[in-house]
Amino acid sequence: MTRGHIVIEDVVKVYDPQGAAVMAVDHCTLAIEPGEICMIVGPSGCGKTTLLNAVAGFHEITSGRIIMDGEVLCSPEKPRSTPGPDRIVVFQNGALFPWKTNLDNVIFGPVMQGKLARKEAIDKGRAMLADAGLSGVEHNYPGEVSSGMRRRVEIVRALMNDPKALLLDEPYRALDSLTKSVMHEALLEIYYKNKVTIFFITHDLEEAIFLGHRVAIMTTRPCKPKKILNVDIPHPRDYSALTSKRFRELIEETNDAVHEEAWKAFQAGEKEG
Ligand SMILES: Nc1ncnc2c1ncn2[C@@H]1O[C@H](COP(=O)(O)OP(=O)(O)O)[C@@H](O)[C@H]1O
Ligand SMILES: [Mg+2]
Repeated sequence: MTRGHIVIEDVVKVYDPQGAAVMAVDHCTLAIEPGEICMIVGPSGCGKTTLLNAVAGFHEITSGRIIMDGEVLCSPEKPRSTPGPDRIVVFQNGALFPWKTNLDNVIFGPVMQGKLARKEAIDKGRAMLADAGLSGVEHNYPGEVSSGMRRRVEIVRALMNDPKALLLDEPYRALDSLTKSVMHEALLEIYYKNKVTIFFITHDLEEAIFLGHRVAIMTTRPCKPKKILNVDIPHPRDYSALTSKRFRELIEETNDAVHEEAWKAFQAGEKEG
């Protein structure tokens, strides 16, 4: 697999609201392999969303470069990357059209962009919803299904565009822990069928280790990787990994680093942007 290789090279991001400079990202370097699930863990306000938004093209970087599959997305010459269907962001609070059925939500993007004819999009959408265990709800509206199902529909909708990378910003933050663990398994199942690079932000270390091939633990603001963990628990994984000895060992190995940064963020009074 060669798609979705993202290189973040020495990226700095300074916000400058009314002349009061806020450095959110500090010379951050991180390479994400094609098809890798790379998890970013850090305390609130450390700059995680800022980094993801820079990859997505939602704002400018101050210096450094971001490169995907050899193409320079942004650099000092072109500080803002152009958002596109090759890098799809799945937001914290979802964004399905409530007046469209789940199937219509899923086919909307490729049909609108003229990438697929409606009939082709319906066939593809149905197959992908079925793969995600959602056949039974394709004609329901998002408001009629559980929040866990809505989150799965959002992922399917993103994957309908054949992106090189999915960018997820704390998508399961608002869910209770049981629903969350079911969502993790569902995400992995979808991932195993549609290998795509996943850049996933969270402040939950267990979530990060359960899902990720690697976990980048970020410093408190301004963020950059403090420690990068290779999660040597084989994929495919299911919830039994959570009680494995290795999982516990990896939590123990990293907990101090995460806790230390969270404590620093707390003392600095960091707030999310
Ligand atoms: N548009 C903005 N203007 C000014 N400061 C911002 C803006 N967005 C975020 N910040 C600041 O940048 C820092 C990092 O925010 P953010 O990337 O949202 O952190 P995280 O996602 O890790 O919680 C915070 O101090 C936040 O207040
Ligand atoms: Mg955030």
